[in-house]
Amino acid sequence: MRTALLGTGRMGTALAKRLLAAGHEVVAWNRSADKARDVVDAGASQAASPREAVEGAEAVVVSLSDDAAVRQVALGEAGVRTALGEGVPYLETSTVSPALTAELSGVFARFAAVPVLGGPAAVSSGEATYLVGADDATFELVKPLLAAFGDRVRRYSSVPLASTAKLAVNFLLLSGVVSLAEAFGVGRAGGLSDDQLRELLGGVVAPGLRNRFEALLGSPAGGWWTTALGAKDASLAVELAHSGGVDLQVGTAVRDAYLRASSAGYADEDIAAVHHLYDQRA
Ligand SMILES: NC(=O)c1ccc[n+]([C@@H]2O[C@H](COP(=O)([O-])OP(=O)(O)OC[C@H]3O[C@@H](n4cnc5c(N)ncnc54)[C@H](OP(=O)(O)O)[C@@H]3O)[C@@H](O)[C@H]2O)c1
Repeated sequence: MRTALLGTGRMGTALAKRLLAAGHEVVAWNRSADKARDVVDAGASQAASPREAVEGAEAVVVSLSDDAAVRQVALGEAGVRTALGEGVPYLETSTVSPALTAELSGVFARFAAVPVLGGPAAVSSGEATYLVGADDATFELVKPLLAAFGDRVRRYSSVPLASTAKLAVNFLLLSGVVSLAEAFGVGRAGGLSDDQLRELLGGVVAPGLRNRFEALLGSPAGGWWTTALGAKDASLAVELAHSGGVDLQVGTAVRDAYLRASSAGYADEDIAAVHHLYDQRA
C-alpha cells in the first residue's frame, strides 16, 4: 500500500522500516526534514508537508510526540484533513489522550487508534503489541499494515478504549520505575550495597522493570522512552483519571518525578534517568 508516514522520530522510523520491509511504498514527512534521512535511505520518498505526503496515499500512519503535535499535523494548515482521500484509513500510533482520538474519529471516517506497547527496538524486531481501536470496516482496511508491523494485535471495540489501555499500561510501568528507584534509595540510605540490592530485588521485580534494573542503579541506559515522553504519558493518565472522577495519589507524584527529571537536564534520556532524583547527598 502507498502509505504516508508522518513523524520520523524513534518510533516513526522503526514503523516506516517495517512497512518498507513488507513491500509497502512509504512517503515520509517530518517537521525537521533532515531527520527523515534514515527512512529515505531505507527506501522511502520524502514529502515537504503532511498534505503532500497524504495526497494519493492509500493509508496514513502518524507517530508524533503529543496531543498538540498530532492536532497540528492532523487538523492544521496543510494537515492530513486537507488532502486525505475519502475512505483512506488513518492509523494514529502516537500516545495521546482518548479525548483527542475520539475527536479525530469524528473527523476521519476510517480512523484507527493504534498505540504501541514496546519501544522502537520491539517494533523493529516485530515484538511490539499494537492496541487497535477501530470499527470493523476500518479494522479490515488496516490489516495489511498491522501485518507488516507484527503479529501481536489486541483489538478494542472503540477508538478511545485503545488510547485508554495504552495510558493504563504506561502508568503502571512509569510508577514501577519510580518505585524501584525509591527502593534503591531506601536500601542505599540504610547502607546496602548495589550488589546486595541486586541479590535482594533482582528476582522479585516485575518483568517490565527488569530491563531497566541496572540503569536504575546507575549504569548507562539504552534510552528509548524519554523522561519528556514519560512526563507527558503520566500527565495524560492523571488527567484521564481525574476526568472520570478519580484523583490519583501516587499518580501525581509519579508525574512530578518525570517532570522534575525532564526539567533537570534529562529530557532526552530514558525514563530510568529518574534515578538521579534519588542520588545521595554528598
Ligand atoms: N519511544 C518509545 O519507547 C515509545 C513507545 C511507545 C509509544 N511511543 C509514542 O510514540 C510517539 C513518538 O515517540 P518517539 O519515541 O518516536 O518520539 P521522538 O523520537 O521524540 O519523535 C517525536 C516526533 O514528533 C515530532 N514532533 C514533535 N512536535 C511536533 C510538532 N509540534 N509538529 C510536528 N511534529 C512534531 C518530531 O519532529 P522533529 O524531529 O521535527 O522534532 C518527531 O518526528 C509518542 O507519542 C510516544 O509517546 C514511544
